[in-house]
Amino acid sequence: MAEPAPPAAEPQPAASAEGGEESGTQVVTPWEVSGGQEGGIDYDKLVEQFGCSKLDDAMIARVERLTGVKAHPFLRRGIFFAHRELDQVLDAYEKGQPFYLYTGRGPSSEALHMGHLIPFQFTKWLQDAFKVPLVIQLTDDEKCMWKNLPVEETRRLARANCKDIIACGFDPQRTFIFADFDYVGGAFYQNVVRIAKCVTLNQVRGIFGFVGEDHIGKAAFPPVQAAPSFPTSFPHMFGDRVDIRCLIPCAIDQDPYFRMTRDAAPRLGYLKPALIESRFFPALQGESGKMSASDPTSSINVTDTPKDIKGKINKYAFSGGGETVEEHRDKGANLAVDVPWKYLNFFLDDDEELARIGREYGAGRMLTGEIKAKLVEVVTEIVERHKAARALVTDDVVDAFMTPRPMPWGELFG
Ligand code: TRP
Repeated sequence: MAEPAPPAAEPQPAASAEGGEESGTQVVTPWEVSGGQEGGIDYDKLVEQFGCSKLDDAMIARVERLTGVKAHPFLRRGIFFAHRELDQVLDAYEKGQPFYLYTGRGPSSEALHMGHLIPFQFTKWLQDAFKVPLVIQLTDDEKCMWKNLPVEETRRLARANCKDIIACGFDPQRTFIFADFDYVGGAFYQNVVRIAKCVTLNQVRGIFGFVGEDHIGKAAFPPVQAAPSFPTSFPHMFGDRVDIRCLIPCAIDQDPYFRMTRDAAPRLGYLKPALIESRFFPALQGESGKMSASDPTSSINVTDTPKDIKGKINKYAFSGGGETVEEHRDKGANLAVDVPWKYLNFFLDDDEELARIGREYGAGRMLTGEIKAKLVEVVTEIVERHKAARALVTDDVVDAFMTPRPMPWGELFG
């Protein structure tokens, strides 16, 4: 396993964690997302700075060709917009070689908001389209350290969040969900230590922006999020095979973890994980970053009642519409900043209807009240469906998903 180490191959831009807000420069780390001068995130700049690639139409068409499934709206609409070596995963898949999916959640709050559903909805689509195994990491340890929550509390939240994740519809045969506090040990921990030996303190400071005053748990954590990228962390699923590729769907703020992982991989004789990365879901108040679960007015939660949803959208969703009806009819809405329009791009499946709304609202023929009413309808339906699905997830179902067990190999990989 201990191969001689070639020089670090993956470029590691510095985190520049200090002074984002005041200096007006954009800061994106796994723990802080703040836009530049205008408040919005410059995604082109991010792709360039991180060194990932833009997803292009040809690659989306290739996904459709290989799976025989129409691309998910998140792909068609550029919500998942960047990648690292997705082409290699597709090449392997085309040759009948297996891969698996890996995603995760840091359980820091009881209720998930709409933004939290995005990677899971997309991962479910990938799992169904490619029929591949999936591992989902619940980083209760991470949230215990970063949110300063008691161990017991983050363990409880991990289990509660697990129900919401299962409610997204994952295939029980092909999905293993684990919480770090329970699962880290054995083969997984061996990988954690292997990875940790590849990364210096200077590197984690550079990648994540840690400072001398941070407790040492923070510097020790990144290998724990890296380890699921390697199939040998799951011997019950993959035995000791090292030739199974990993594809990670995530929001682009998680990229630093996986840059570090990709850097370590070849030095351990492992394949680098591939990534498919999304934009952030805007707060109700507008585009300037991620939503905060602790500010109830910034997001719609999956536990909100239809009345809550209507109230929040009508009261807080930032509008790009005109100040007065006359002005609106005259100039139309500014779609670039309009939150109801952005949310519909995430959640309205029907392409034609979406295009019609964009035309009508953009031209001022549709009013802010009308687009908000449409959004209330679409979001209420998703939330109600989610609640009904979650109500069916019993503790036994959670235990079944969280039990290490073999996956049906033959069926999966032919
Ligand atoms: N760090 C992530 C969070 O705070 C959780 C996570 C763990 C994750 N592993 C992942 C997210 C893999 C995406 C992909 O939410």
